[in-house]
Amino acid sequence: MHALKGRIAAFPYPFPEDTYRYSTNVEPANTPNTTAAGGWGATIIDIDEDYHAELAERATVLAADPTRHAVLPHMRPAAWDAMLTVMGELAGAYPDRMSLRNLGGDVWRWHNAILDDTREFRYGDEASLGQEPLAYITTQVQEDIALLDQRNEQLYVDAGVVTFAADWSFGFDVGMSFLEIHGPVPRVRRDGVITRAHDFLKRLQPHQPYRRTNWTLTIGHRLDVSTERYPDWGPDREMIQSVADDEFGRLVNLRVEVQHLIRLPDSGALMFLIRTYMLSLEELATVEDWRVRTAQVLAALPDDMAEYKGIIKYRDRAARWLTEAAPAATGGHSPREPVPGLPEWPTVPPAVDVTGASFLIVSIGQDPQTSHAARGWVRAAESAGPTRMLVLDSLAADADATALRQAYGELRTGSRILVTGSQYAVMMALAWAYDAGAISAELTAFVTDLGDLPMYCAHCRDIHRVVGAPGGVVTCPGCSRRVQIHGHHAPRLGGFLASAAAEEPS
Ligand code: HEM
Repeated sequence: MHALKGRIAAFPYPFPEDTYRYSTNVEPANTPNTTAAGGWGATIIDIDEDYHAELAERATVLAADPTRHAVLPHMRPAAWDAMLTVMGELAGAYPDRMSLRNLGGDVWRWHNAILDDTREFRYGDEASLGQEPLAYITTQVQEDIALLDQRNEQLYVDAGVVTFAADWSFGFDVGMSFLEIHGPVPRVRRDGVITRAHDFLKRLQPHQPYRRTNWTLTIGHRLDVSTERYPDWGPDREMIQSVADDEFGRLVNLRVEVQHLIRLPDSGALMFLIRTYMLSLEELATVEDWRVRTAQVLAALPDDMAEYKGIIKYRDRAARWLTEAAPAATGGHSPREPVPGLPEWPTVPPAVDVTGASFLIVSIGQDPQTSHAARGWVRAAESAGPTRMLVLDSLAADADATALRQAYGELRTGSRILVTGSQYAVMMALAWAYDAGAISAELTAFVTDLGDLPMYCAHCRDIHRVVGAPGGVVTCPGCSRRVQIHGHHAPRLGGFLASAAAEEPS
């Protein structure tokens, strides 16, 4: 799955320029977009590490509120068309996990190996599928889906399953025209954005899918910020103004929707896919171009747009937060600046390998980045299998070292170990994991501080924690010699080599 590149690398960063205004920003789908951190958009449907969690969340939302799903009677054929089209896209994008086969005539066989779900159905026959087709297909993809009927030169939103609406109500909008739906959006009538979009969509042909992005800010990793749930999330807009800075950076998310626009081949209806991604300001700031540009976009966003997006009360603080998150220009090494000779640590927490049978997440030390990375992993891992989180103060303490070795001893084959902490802690934790029989493919690491390292002294032949960097000279805590740390490390031993430093001129 390409999304295993990691959430940040695959994030659809939405700002091509330092200012943002509404526009009819459509482009052909299925064409990869490169960003400062990676890329996105090679496929229409995107499955990532949050797959299980988001599908479970959708099921919960639908169970609590049936108005998130509607198919007006004349849209039943379009719902079948949408289902088969999405299945085809999935099978094309993930051929090793998904397949769609025609068994002759109207009979099809769908298989989703990730969910272990197989259906044989007769196209158009709801009883054979066991479910309304739009409801079924939205159990297979993270995307929300709306279907628009085209009649009398207008588009009408007459069907959909929308559980992750960003501050609007699907139940209220069902049956409305495209122009009516966009009524509350400021500026767009005056600027002609919506009428141009409307004209464009009415001309859209089958097999020529297009896409666009839209964005806002969301407090907390909350997908369902629908009008219906306003009492749950509305008060956050007040709360966020008084939280401490580090909490602010963790809680405020840039929320981006990748929206696909597809003319369905059989029914002629228009399918609108909405896929929601979120990245906290803290994560966003790890990509320097994004940090700088997002700060500029937020600072320069006109008030009427900020008001409409519901972010007017905290967008200035968000812009300031990003500006102040500039990497410190000290001589020290930041984990975001790889140094030749050092192991190449990822600059952001790598994604959880959800194919693991179970997960041990080890968070070492007090650094807020460490606990944040560990919490993110726990969230992703929990939906994929049994997950244990071990929080340790320091591997230099015997009790903590014993706890870690014990936890490793209890793991079964197929487990994944994810470790975060300072470089010393991570390298030791990885070395002990190798010691306990783990292989590289089972290990994931995220270093939050390059200030310390495990040093293997060639003279006292032991490993020690030192504060220093390759090339530096330190006193060996074991034999008190002045030793130079070499840019040469042994992952399985968990140490950098050090040997007696040349005599310093007196
Ligand atoms: C090229 C196509 C489209 C363009 C250019 C467009 C443009 C926009 C813009 C600029 C906004 C304001 C967003 C913000 O500030 O956060 C918006 C909101 C919205 N759009 Fe679209 N849109 C398009 C297609 C669609 C389609 C096909 C639907 C069908 C459901 C849709 C449903 C909505 C809804 C429900 C809102 C929120 C309105 C509210 O506040 O109640 N859009 N759109």
